[in-house]
Amino acid sequence: MKISKLIKKAGFMIAGVTLLSGLAACSSTTRGGGATEGALQEGDLIGISMPTKADQRWNVDGGNLVKELEAAGFKTKLAYANNSPSQQSTDINNLVSAGAKAVVVASVDGTAVGPAVQQAKDGGATVIAYDRLIMNTEAVDYYVTFDLERTGILEAETIIRRLDLENGGGKDIPYNIALFAGSDDDNNAPYFFKGAWDLLQPYFESGQLVDPSGIVTKDFTVEDWKKISVHAWDQSQAQKQMDAIMTKLGDQPLAAVLSPYDAISLGVMKSIKNARPDMTPSIPFDAKNPTNKSAWPIITGQDGMDIAITNIYYGAQEQTVFKDVSLLAKQTTTLIKEISEGKTPSSDKKPMNNGKKDVPTWLMQSDELVKEPTGDQKGLDYVVETGFITEDQYQKDIKAPIIE
Ligand code: BGC
Repeated sequence: MKISKLIKKAGFMIAGVTLLSGLAACSSTTRGGGATEGALQEGDLIGISMPTKADQRWNVDGGNLVKELEAAGFKTKLAYANNSPSQQSTDINNLVSAGAKAVVVASVDGTAVGPAVQQAKDGGATVIAYDRLIMNTEAVDYYVTFDLERTGILEAETIIRRLDLENGGGKDIPYNIALFAGSDDDNNAPYFFKGAWDLLQPYFESGQLVDPSGIVTKDFTVEDWKKISVHAWDQSQAQKQMDAIMTKLGDQPLAAVLSPYDAISLGVMKSIKNARPDMTPSIPFDAKNPTNKSAWPIITGQDGMDIAITNIYYGAQEQTVFKDVSLLAKQTTTLIKEISEGKTPSSDKKPMNNGKKDVPTWLMQSDELVKEPTGDQKGLDYVVETGFITEDQYQKDIKAPIIE
């Protein structure tokens, strides 16, 4: 073929491509910012489905999402599922029927919610898993959460330090520790536990730590986590499980309790108070005098709940892993805004697999709150600084009675 013919042919092909892409552009009518008809647009309704009002953090999360999304020009509708998976499915259906173009879901049960989000997706809505991953479904577009293992890492590091395990604490007489994991239907729970167990297991191996219940031994693995899980993160369920451990403990000292959530910590404390009235928060476990039976164990937690602020202030709880949930609401809003502008959000973090797909994931950073912070730790009033609670509420917290 002659060069001139080639050029002619190439010119035709280029024109053809242009023509085809022009047709493609025409076939999807555009509104406003150039996004596709039917897709999420600025001003649209965003449905928010939260697990329960009974837990302090989800109230703050819901409020933050409404505030951020409305400030970005969206309408919102917020539903709480009373910790019931079937109620949450109804909520999501209702949000989509009300016209939601995206649903933000903090699931009660990460697997049970699958069919409802599939329906939302089929109805054209974008699905964002909020804090907890939605499992075993293709119908989840994005996931925003905190660095999950970090929760367990911060909790375990505190236990290791306070029990002086690195310097041989528990070598002569093993230290008793009780361990709890989160809810069996929450994909976050094994990650929290993994963060802690990777650090604590070596001390079970060396014999410095023992679980009086006998459930957790050096051979326990992260896959066994459901043996120590607390269904629905429920405080009274945690109390019952701790009662059984206290029976096995008898009159021995208790050095520590790994708890992944402040309400579980509270259930644990109530159990200790009933079973061992001799133990008192005014005498915290001291690695220099580990045989003191009256010593109160080092207890961890998560969320910076009011009750945890009180208990840490008075020494009944050692720390809480605090999540500045305003960051999560802001990140969710950024995603929704980008989608409404026709962009595809991209994260530099590793996607998380939900059993069916790799879900693009955004991770926020949590902080450890203690009474007397050192290094990277934060003081208790950080909950006020981040807007999680008001100064008034904080003042009430640090005047409230402990373990009521
Ligand atoms: C959240 C934690 C919370 C727990 C109980 C988890 O999925 O990530 O922040 O403490 O649920 O509500």
